[in-house]
Amino acid sequence: MTWNFLEIEAQIKAEAQAIGTAQDLETFRLKYLGKKGLVTAVFASLGQAAPADKAAIGKGANDLKKLVDSLMTERAGWINSVKKIDERVDISLPGTAPALGHAHLLTQTLQEITSIFERMGFVSAETPEIETEFNNFTGLNIPIDHPSRDAFDTFYLDTEDPSSRGRRLLLRSHTSPGQVRIMKAHRPPLAVIVPGRVYRPDAVDASHSFMFHQVEGLLVDEKVSFCELKGLLTEFCRRFFGPKVIMRFRPHFFPFTEPSAEVDINAEILGIQRKKWLEILGCGMVNPRVFEAAGYPKGQYKGLAFGMGVERMAMLKYGINDIRLFYENDARFLSQF
Ligand code: PHE
Repeated sequence: MTWNFLEIEAQIKAEAQAIGTAQDLETFRLKYLGKKGLVTAVFASLGQAAPADKAAIGKGANDLKKLVDSLMTERAGWINSVKKIDERVDISLPGTAPALGHAHLLTQTLQEITSIFERMGFVSAETPEIETEFNNFTGLNIPIDHPSRDAFDTFYLDTEDPSSRGRRLLLRSHTSPGQVRIMKAHRPPLAVIVPGRVYRPDAVDASHSFMFHQVEGLLVDEKVSFCELKGLLTEFCRRFFGPKVIMRFRPHFFPFTEPSAEVDINAEILGIQRKKWLEILGCGMVNPRVFEAAGYPKGQYKGLAFGMGVERMAMLKYGINDIRLFYENDARFLSQF
């Protein structure tokens, strides 16, 4: 009996490719290595083979057996790995939604405030948190002996101000130095907001933090009135808190604005019972001395400015009663917003 080893080999390889289950694997094994299997038959034929053919038939039979063995190992591995995937992924189970993160409530609030003003035509600009005494105080007409310059009210750095010998740099205590920077660098008309962090050495409690956020606003042109300031901030509050908001402008004093006011929001309307009126921002008409310090020609421009506390706004809008919650990064708090 003669065997066409090449043909048998090709047939084995082709059939092995089609093995997809443990059952297929067993059928394949029986077909070639079983008692009545083809490879078994090749071995059996050695007995009657002519002595001259024995070596070739013996080698052929051994090669076929090795081929069948190695293909079976390979297919068995494949079947196992598929089975594992099937066990791991039960496609009939309801899916697990991936845990998605989201922006921190303060970031969301900052973005909301920024976008309201951007839609009104303001551009947003960030200015440095490390400032000079000039930008934080002098350029804003804050007198040299003003208590807010005191180390108890401002964080001073050990680093000397390279632009003013003997004066130290500081962490800005409000975003208003942004006004000075913008006016030193640009000519009116200007409509800019400056969002960012500010620092004050306050003892931390439910309503104070040594670091918090403000959004500064500055609008300068040849004709700007207090009426526009009121209109602008009223519209802003309606968009931020909703149309029912009740606010009041209360006369106040800031060295860098004249006249000046503070804006309070009626907390009862927002459903916060603690106190009737809560202050959210300071504002006013830019003091001509601030224009002067920025190098603008005398009497040519008018401007309005405001600065609001972002934490305050978020606390009022979302009924949060402790400022520390913003900084503790407790997921149980953050995930609510
Ligand atoms: N800088 C003031 C503050 O921090 C707020 C303010 C800004 C007031 C601009 C008037 C104009 O309290």
